[in-house]
Amino acid sequence: MLGLFDSGLGGLTVLRRLRDAVPAADMLYYADQAHVPYGERSADDLLRLLHHNLGWLDARGVDAIVMACNTSCGVADRYGWPPVSVPVLDLIDSAAQAVERTGLLRVGVIATTATVRSGAYGRHIVRRMPTARVVEVDAPALVPLVEAGELHGDAPRRAVQAVCDLLPRDVEAVVLACTHYPLLDEHFAAVLGTGVLRIDPAIVQAERAAQLLSERGRLTGSGTLECVTTGDLDRFRENLGIMLPDLLVHVRHADAAELYDTISNASAVPET
Ligand code: DGL
Repeated sequence: MLGLFDSGLGGLTVLRRLRDAVPAADMLYYADQAHVPYGERSADDLLRLLHHNLGWLDARGVDAIVMACNTSCGVADRYGWPPVSVPVLDLIDSAAQAVERTGLLRVGVIATTATVRSGAYGRHIVRRMPTARVVEVDAPALVPLVEAGELHGDAPRRAVQAVCDLLPRDVEAVVLACTHYPLLDEHFAAVLGTGVLRIDPAIVQAERAAQLLSERGRLTGSGTLECVTTGDLDRFRENLGIMLPDLLVHVRHADAAELYDTISNASAVPET
């Protein structure tokens, strides 16, 4: 079984790619909607949540954790990954691999405030492509729009336009570096046009997950999907129906005792 988590609906864009890459794999998806948006939280807070979320999935016996939250990967890259007993696939590393495959050197990264603050994208891309020029732009308005179900129309178009206006004019590729953003892809496509390549890191992430499962002889399963939210169960169920209409999903709400039994003392880190 593969474990995924995100602050909310965004990680479902990773889950969708995973489902295409490894249809038989069983999956457990944890949406921490009680704490969305992650992108405006302090590093200390994010490390505590990361420690909890990884521990929660690990305790449920997943074979691997497929990261579906860039913000959590960013803070882990900056301050260190909490130890878990299973492999963890870093989404930012997958994103950097995706950029490297394109060979494009003028790269824009649109991400949450905390991801940009971590500097992880620049580090990963430049490590692979030393001559790349990476410009990171934060987009705090986008996640709340997605969580409110505002995917179409003027409000998301204007918000995407405002963010893209901050990118250098000669950018060749743009990484959608928050898993919520592919849900706004119609707006990115319209604003950026066909001359700019849009990169969704979830595609390489799903390929790497498929490879990991195949190496471990675990490509089989019964294709079950369990989704857990810490937020409003009815709204989550409704959104799942819209976003994953063809998937049979078992959804439930996790109560506080279950959620916090795995939290122990995550180390405090200084704010940057
Ligand atoms: N979807 C997450 C990410 O990829 C978190 C977004 C948020 O809650 O701010 O960063």
